[in-house]
Amino acid sequence: MERSWLFVPGDSERKMTKAAASGADVLILDLEDSVAAENTATARGLVREYLQSRPDREAQKLWVRINPLTTPMALDDLAGVMSGGPDGILLPKPETAADVVTLGHYLDAFEAASGLERGTTRIMPVATETALGMFHLGAYRGLTPRLSGLTWGAEDLAAALGAGTNRGADGAYSHTYEMARSLCLLGAVAAGVAAIDTITGDFRDKDLIERETQDGRRLGFRGKIAIHPDQVEIINRAFNPTEAELAHARRIVAAFAAAGTGTVGLDGQMLDMPHLKQAQNLLAAAK
Ligand code: COA
Ligand code: MG
Repeated sequence: MERSWLFVPGDSERKMTKAAASGADVLILDLEDSVAAENTATARGLVREYLQSRPDREAQKLWVRINPLTTPMALDDLAGVMSGGPDGILLPKPETAADVVTLGHYLDAFEAASGLERGTTRIMPVATETALGMFHLGAYRGLTPRLSGLTWGAEDLAAALGAGTNRGADGAYSHTYEMARSLCLLGAVAAGVAAIDTITGDFRDKDLIERETQDGRRLGFRGKIAIHPDQVEIINRAFNPTEAELAHARRIVAAFAAAGTGTVGLDGQMLDMPHLKQAQNLLAAAK
């Protein structure tokens, strides 16, 4: 399961070391926005060495966020880290869905150059960070088997739009960013991949991340990005189905099996195929 995705600045050996023990299902070693431009070259070397020092990825996957394909840094990032065999590449600021195809071709070449098995490096775009990218959220289906998820971000989109803020007076995301979140979810499901929810920036507020994680899970997100180790445990717990949920799902499956019909009554509620499917999904995800 890939519930928690912890961002770790790629120029910080200390944080990379700490992150290994965070319990995060995935680390995203960052070469983009959390690294100052003058440290990028150093960060590439540190990230490559870190990847090479951790060949066993059973308990924790190691991804790398590169710079956008619209910058010359993207290829230099890949050249710097691919020999470490990252499990996946997080692609920021895509302009179109076809960016994942371009990245896939780059990965074909770098995998060959590094003796890695062809096609094994996965891709997840941060698909809502440019205005044009927003119009491509329904276009990710079938482009490359490397695609393993879609995620979204509200900060860079606001910057791209020249917006002073991405929130309304009540502190909640404005419509544009709620739309980005929904379209990310819909686009991921349409493409048959996992939707991964964005960061909660206020890392001291445990109640806030708990609420935002639960909210995302109810909507259909399969995981969430963290920026601080303290957020990881909360995310992991929130995405684990509770015993009560599992027991309820088993009762629904059993009720349909016993009835042999397309619709059944359980606890005074009408259940039909979507309920059975939800129950089966929950039980399958828990395996
Ligand atoms: N990964 C690994 N370790 C982290 C971490 C992270 N994302 N964030 C914090 N830590 C470590 C710190 O180094 C510190 O360890 P130390 O005391 O041994 O040095 C410990 O956890 C507690 O950190 P804390 O003091 O609470 O926070 P901070 O002020 O050091 O760091 C941030 C705050 C926001 C700078 C830091 O959490 C961070 O770098 N987050 C990731 C940012 C990022 O990647 N952004 C890009 C995507 S939006
Ligand atoms: Mg950014």
